[in-house]
Amino acid sequence: MTMASNRRVVLLAGDGIGPEVANEARRVVEWLDHRRSVGFDLSEALIGGAAYEATGHPLPDATMEAAQGSDAVLLGAVGGPQWEALDFSLRPERAILGLRKQLDLFANLRPAKVFDALSDASSLKPEVLRGLDLMIIRELTGGIYFGEPRGVETLPDGTRRGVNTEVYTTPEIRRVGAVAFELARGRGGKVHSVEKANVMESGGLWREEIQELRDADFADVELHHMYADNCAMQLVRDPHQFDVVVTSNLFGDLLSDISAQLTGSLGMLPSASLGALGSGGSRAALYEPVHGSAPDIAGEGKANPIAMVLSLAMLLRHSLEQDADAELIERAVGNVLDSGLRTADILQPGLTPVSTGDMGRAICAELDRLAA
Ligand code: IPM
Ligand code: MG
Repeated sequence: MTMASNRRVVLLAGDGIGPEVANEARRVVEWLDHRRSVGFDLSEALIGGAAYEATGHPLPDATMEAAQGSDAVLLGAVGGPQWEALDFSLRPERAILGLRKQLDLFANLRPAKVFDALSDASSLKPEVLRGLDLMIIRELTGGIYFGEPRGVETLPDGTRRGVNTEVYTTPEIRRVGAVAFELARGRGGKVHSVEKANVMESGGLWREEIQELRDADFADVELHHMYADNCAMQLVRDPHQFDVVVTSNLFGDLLSDISAQLTGSLGMLPSASLGALGSGGSRAALYEPVHGSAPDIAGEGKANPIAMVLSLAMLLRHSLEQDADAELIERAVGNVLDSGLRTADILQPGLTPVSTGDMGRAICAELDRLAA
């Protein structure tokens, strides 16, 4: 029998709760490796503060090379108070921005899906949230995060001036727009494009380019334009009106934190960052939980590994075309939540508190049951 070659996944655990949630992702990868058709070569590399301590840089060349040679990268989290005083270029967060930029991961998919068992875990009313399933597509390698000029200068009178620049070009807008329209076709068929065309020239360009793209190539998809401030309000007022939201780097950063809270906890939210489709049909891709390194609870077994495990499910779907395995993982997570197990961030009265490791083991036990 000939075996299909193993898929190369690089696991970057990082800092804070990163290593703890990475352990649970590794547990699920091992389960898949033993029980499902696709085999994995899982390797690990340093990133963030951990990499800085070991090598003097948050994104060592060896890590970049491992990422470039892989089918997909799975990242825990980076950062912590001990590295906050470092020069900007050496901060752990620069490693994430470096990976995004160097791998050209321009499309960031941030789904917000409310599991039935958690529809009353949010600070919003359950009837507003029940059954919610929306996707924010955030442009990830352009806009004000990377625009030039940037910097801080001292003026002749001794006061200082800080500058960042919002800049978008036709190709940057269109490639992320195309990802949004394509995803919408496989979902609810509706895209909201979000900018501030009322005050920003780059927002006006964004609106025109997205409309032209839709009219030329995606006329079957319903398109709405919305100002970013209104979108923030509509997300908490009536989130069910949204299917796919596509927006700039900065607005996507803000709006995806709002959509995260709709689901009850940041600890539930996965993300995918995708590059362009190559000729062989593959694309660079990075998968990570939306939550950060949460240094305040690191090392205590309190972290919720679900966002990390769901990021692995996104990896299976978007990089390995293993949709059935992705669905299996999502179903296992839903069933474990239905059974009442909860990490601290989503604990409610009467339910069973469990540790990070217990949650990971419960998900694997449920996978065993579903796959039996
Ligand atoms: C995110 C984070 C990052 C960002 C930080 C850690 C650089 O907030 O992924 O949303 O601003 O993009
Ligand atoms: Mg953010």
